[in-house]
Amino acid sequence: MTSTQGHDEVRFAIVGTGLMGIEHIRNLKLRPDVRIAALCDPVKKSLERARTALGDDASGVAEFSDCGAFVAAAKSRLQVDAVIVASPNHTHHEVLKLLFGTRLHILCEKPLCTTLDDARRIAEAADAHTRTTGGVFSVGMEYRYMPPVSEFIARVKAGEVGKLRMLAIREHRFPFLPKVGDWNRFSRNTGGTMVEKCCHFFDLMRFIVGAEPVRLYCSGAMDVNHQDERYAGEKPDIIDNSYTIVDFANGARAMLDLCMFAEGSQNQEEIAAVGDLAKLEVLIPDGDLIFSPRVGFAGKKIERRHVAVEQALLGAGHHHGATYFQHEAFLAAIRGRSAVEVSANDGLRAVAMGVAAERSAQEKKVVEIPRLGD
Ligand SMILES: NC(=O)c1ccc[n+]([C@@H]2O[C@H](COP(=O)([O-])OP(=O)(O)OC[C@H]3O[C@@H](n4cnc5c(N)ncnc54)[C@H](O)[C@@H]3O)[C@@H](O)[C@H]2O)c1
Repeated sequence: MTSTQGHDEVRFAIVGTGLMGIEHIRNLKLRPDVRIAALCDPVKKSLERARTALGDDASGVAEFSDCGAFVAAAKSRLQVDAVIVASPNHTHHEVLKLLFGTRLHILCEKPLCTTLDDARRIAEAADAHTRTTGGVFSVGMEYRYMPPVSEFIARVKAGEVGKLRMLAIREHRFPFLPKVGDWNRFSRNTGGTMVEKCCHFFDLMRFIVGAEPVRLYCSGAMDVNHQDERYAGEKPDIIDNSYTIVDFANGARAMLDLCMFAEGSQNQEEIAAVGDLAKLEVLIPDGDLIFSPRVGFAGKKIERRHVAVEQALLGAGHHHGATYFQHEAFLAAIRGRSAVEVSANDGLRAVAMGVAAERSAQEKKVVEIPRLGD
């Protein structure tokens, strides 16, 4: 870190400059206390798009087409403090293994890895990285950081609904977008939809419920989307709709309702927590929280509160302002002002739930979630 104008400037590298890498760039550009020092992507067009997103800040930014070359430079001449890994899911494992040889702080996009074995190995290596180099390691779980969702979580944790018994998460959205090289059409690259997309929601469940999952049942399939798509003659194999029910060790239960052919929905995410005293809901993108205490028929039924997000933050990405606040938490951990909020262990456990859900959907049976040292 270099000291500028009374605060420590953190110099970032972005590995993988596709859709999400560019969202990171646009959000980092909103901060006076960071600088982008390097870009790394094997695809020229992705690097060009990243340079366009950087605008005037592109001058002097180093470019690499290969992560090995970036790591070699980071170990010698290149001045860089932190790296964001936003390459495709199936590359996280190899990219992270290279980065663990450096002293860099690392924010890795979700899912940590595509398989449980890889996620286990990477979580162990991430802990060793932090122990030996002091480098912070965190996983990109955006949904915790959408401002209305953050407030929802804080209110549930503060006990507003009483003892939490039920947590329902609904995501009704558009189909998977096209990606560079179409990597997201196949479960072997993504881990499967329940890992790729739903690790976010499994992470939210663990975080909000405050306990570990014991077992789950997932019913899901690819019923509507991607039916006519072929890549080198191969049809995609990714779930586009599912229901998942999860039992937690503290007796709470949660469910996830995912539909990826519902782009007409008013709200993309609707989350409801019900305890023995009340119910609290949050709606994205409406940004409303709805509190419904257990009152009699004549009582005032609901209180609605809107959580506004600055336009500049909404415009810098596709995640309701979350990326900006995720960076804030990552930077606070780098500067030693707070602990890491989303650890490698959190990333591992979200993958474990996703892998269990994929298996449950395939085998059509309840799957026990492996104990991971809890
Ligand atoms: N947190 C979120 O809500 C969220 C949203 C979207 C994507 N993501 C995650 O971000 C990652 C990237 O997704 P995306 O949507 O940007 O995909 P994308 O296809 O748009 O971009 C990926 C980029 O990585 C590059 N790449 C491929 N192999 C690489 C390697 N070995 N090293 C460096 N770069 C490499 C590709 O050329 C491409 O430019 C994925 O892990 C995805 O799951 C997270």
